[in-house]
Amino acid sequence: MNYENILVEKNNHLAKVTINRPSKLNALNKQTIAELHSAFKTLEADTAIKAIILTGSGQKAFVAGADISEFANFSESQGAQLAASGQKTLFNFIENLSTPVIAAVNGFALGGGLELAMAAHFRIASSNAKMGLPEVSLGVIPGYGGTQRLPQLIGKGKAMEMIMTAGMLTADEAKNWGLVNDVVAQEDLLPLCEKLAGKIARNSSVAIAAAIQSVNAHFKEGVDGFNVEINAFGKCFATNDFKEGTTAFLEKRKPKFE
Ligand code: COA
Repeated sequence: MNYENILVEKNNHLAKVTINRPSKLNALNKQTIAELHSAFKTLEADTAIKAIILTGSGQKAFVAGADISEFANFSESQGAQLAASGQKTLFNFIENLSTPVIAAVNGFALGGGLELAMAAHFRIASSNAKMGLPEVSLGVIPGYGGTQRLPQLIGKGKAMEMIMTAGMLTADEAKNWGLVNDVVAQEDLLPLCEKLAGKIARNSSVAIAAAIQSVNAHFKEGVDGFNVEINAFGKCFATNDFKEGTTAFLEKRKPKFE
């Protein structure tokens, strides 16, 4: 499928999705959000793809936010609709994707850009990256899940500080605060993400999908994550991957998962 604002590349078990509007610092407009949804949906259905890296094009930005020019004149109901449809189409969608998504944060990740990185399953940053939720400086709040995911990742007090000050964290500060897992030089960012994706690809993708679902259950209102884990654990026993994984261990060989 041809996209205008994103690039999708596949290499063996790995896919890379690059948001490609560098002249606008990869700001997320409506079309980009729709294209990302379509790309992630297609990649999730592709059983050969075991992990996805999400990054921004150019040296400067991952994503500098939602495209401010698109919503500057919105009414109250249009604002609510923007947040609701964005959350459903892209941010919650990525968080609940059964294929692991690693955000390679290669520069500014601001507003919707940081929210997008937070929707990924984990984040690695380059040392030039800057992260923040500047929405209150525009008279609005994060609307793509930022008020919910940031406290999950760094705790309530730090999240409140970041949101209220509209300030930016350096990559090292983001690592200290638990927002990203690691920080490397820009040229090492994709190689490290590919290495991690390669490790992921060696494991059972059925089990990984069950793990994503179980971890996410902890953060779902009214859902007992322990029960979700019990059910998902049980289901693993009926899979070919479980038979293969345990048999390979007992036969002292490497497993060949589906
Ligand atoms: N929405 C729309 N356009 C954006 C954008 C956004 N969130 N972020 C950057 N751009 C555009 C700029 O308007 C500019 O376009 P132009 O050349 O047509 O004028 C282009 O991207 C380059 O940005 P510029 O501001 O010139 O780069 P800079 O290096 O001086 O500053 C930032 C970089 C990230 C500090 C600055 O672009 C910025 O503050 N962006 C908005 C961040 C934000 O508030 N995001 C949250 C949105 S809810």
